Amino acid sequence: MTKVAIWCRHKNDNIIGIGSQIPWHVKSDFQRFRRITEGQTIIAGQKTYESFPGRTLPNRKIFVLTLDENYEVSDSVNHQVINSIKYFENFEEDLYIAGGASVYKLFMTGSSKLKPEIVVDCVYQGDIEANLIGEPVDITPCIEMLNKMYIQVSQNYELDNITTRLLIRKNQFINQNLLKKIIQTIEKGM
Ligand SMILES: NC(=O)c1ccc[n+]([C@@H]2O[C@H](COP(=O)([O-])OP(=O)(O)OC[C@H]3O[C@@H](n4cnc5c(N)ncnc54)[C@H](OP(=O)(O)O)[C@@H]3O)[C@@H](O)[C@H]2O)c1
Repeated sequence: MTKVAIWCRHKNDNIIGIGSQIPWHVKSDFQRFRRITEGQTIIAGQKTYESFPGRTLPNRKIFVLTLDENYEVSDSVNHQVINSIKYFENFEEDLYIAGGASVYKLFMTGSSKLKPEIVVDCVYQGDIEANLIGEPVDITPCIEMLNKMYIQVSQNYELDNITTRLLIRKNQFINQNLLKKIIQTIEKGM
């Protein structure tokens, strides 16, 4: 019903990862992600799924996006492989879009039916960890879309060098109860 994108990006360059890793370790960022997504259904790209400890996130259903039809998930009850993003165009449940960059881009820059109604935009203001192996991964096209088609509806919440704010898609029906619930969850963690 409602699609919610949630990410933490680095200020100015919109980097969300280096290689397979998130290049900062902020405990409250992981806690915020956990509190917002707990009990919910999330979608993650295969690379992000592989980066979850034990390839799982407790108390969440996970859709894993991969072209590999034979991909084996770690939990056949709660995790499901999806080979095409089109599956979510008429999805009936709430869906939390959890990355990585290719998945954020598919939803944010994809068809109108795919674009999230709500975005939890967290911006890390500190320095990126040095000496990580791999290429920087950024979500700049998503932020361009965010600036064009979304409007901020919360204050800026500042915690541990991360600014968090909520945006909604302009001219769309937004589930106000869900929006309030996410705001309350963020505020509880402050
Ligand atoms: N800071 C944050 O908030 C945050 C959140 C999540 C992830 N990250 C970071 O993001 C980085 C990973 O991002 P990423 O873009 O490299 O990888 P990703 O989005 O996690 O996964 C990419 C994989 O998804 C599958 N895929 C992509 N498009 C598809 C499509 N149209 N249809 C079917 N399958 C498709 C492919 O799997 P197959 O190759 O198996 O076909 C592809 O290799 C890591 O650094 C991670 O730590 C950061």
